[in-house]
Amino acid sequence: MWSGAHLIGMDGADAEQLRSVLDVAADASFDPDALRGRAVANLFFEDSTRTRVSFSLAAQRLGARVVDWTSAGSSVSKGESLLDTFLTIESMGFDAVVVRHRESGAARLLTEHARCAVINAGDGTHQHPTQALADALALGEALGRDRGWDFSGVTVAIVGDCVSSRVARSNVASLTALGARVILVGPAPMVPDTLGEALGCEVAHDLDAVLPEVDAAMMLRIQLERGAGRLLPGGFDYAGAFGLSRQRAAGMKDGAVVMHPGPMNRGVEIEGVVADGSRSIVLAQVEAGVRVRMAVLDEAIRRSV
Ligand code: CP
Repeated sequence: MWSGAHLIGMDGADAEQLRSVLDVAADASFDPDALRGRAVANLFFEDSTRTRVSFSLAAQRLGARVVDWTSAGSSVSKGESLLDTFLTIESMGFDAVVVRHRESGAARLLTEHARCAVINAGDGTHQHPTQALADALALGEALGRDRGWDFSGVTVAIVGDCVSSRVARSNVASLTALGARVILVGPAPMVPDTLGEALGCEVAHDLDAVLPEVDAAMMLRIQLERGAGRLLPGGFDYAGAFGLSRQRAAGMKDGAVVMHPGPMNRGVEIEGVVADGSRSIVLAQVEAGVRVRMAVLDEAIRRSV
């Protein structure tokens, strides 16, 4: 999980490292001056609402100065590369750079040149580690599994466009490291058997068969910006086959929760009443995101000094 001061992905996640971040985030007794005198830059080459805002808020709550940079309106339009942009920003004196980019491997590339801590806020279809931490925190708190973060006996279905999803890849690694059983569910082109083999989890293509077994259903949107629309045949009724409707949600176990990393496409992968319903922990995931990003920034900057 950690590579020195850098947090790039959840592949090979260590349960102890996960629990250590989750314990700090769950405790939430942060020192508001922990990062006083430090500076954090958000470098977002791809759009974001919750990740960028929550990293900014997290850094500010720890006393750091924060600069929000987005590629829109930047010198990227003049041909400046990812690496040159990063080195330019880093040379201004930042202790941590949070980066989001459409290319898988972008954050890892920066670590080869960085003097500051690099935190991956999502790279292509590869990894989104702080989303997975937020999801584990929200799920553990919702299911009462937060003491010790032992998810053995917990079954989580990750439903939808898994092949395009960095959130799915990060969550499979972190949830299985914490002991959960994870099932990827969706149409075969979005959930190929090879993906389950590569990630070391189960695969299913019938949501109605899986849903009554699960403790959590994590719904994913179809990532049209990554060409996922081409994965399905024309006229395919995605919502009918894989959308979490009110009727489907009603058949879930007592206490089972509904998750979504956002942004949601209501009426496609999730019906609005389910997103807003009593099982939903969607906004708890967002709130958990601030706490895990506080824990991650604090740890990353400690590790970098
Ligand atoms: N879940 C997530 O990464 O959302 P944003 O794209 O809004 O940051």
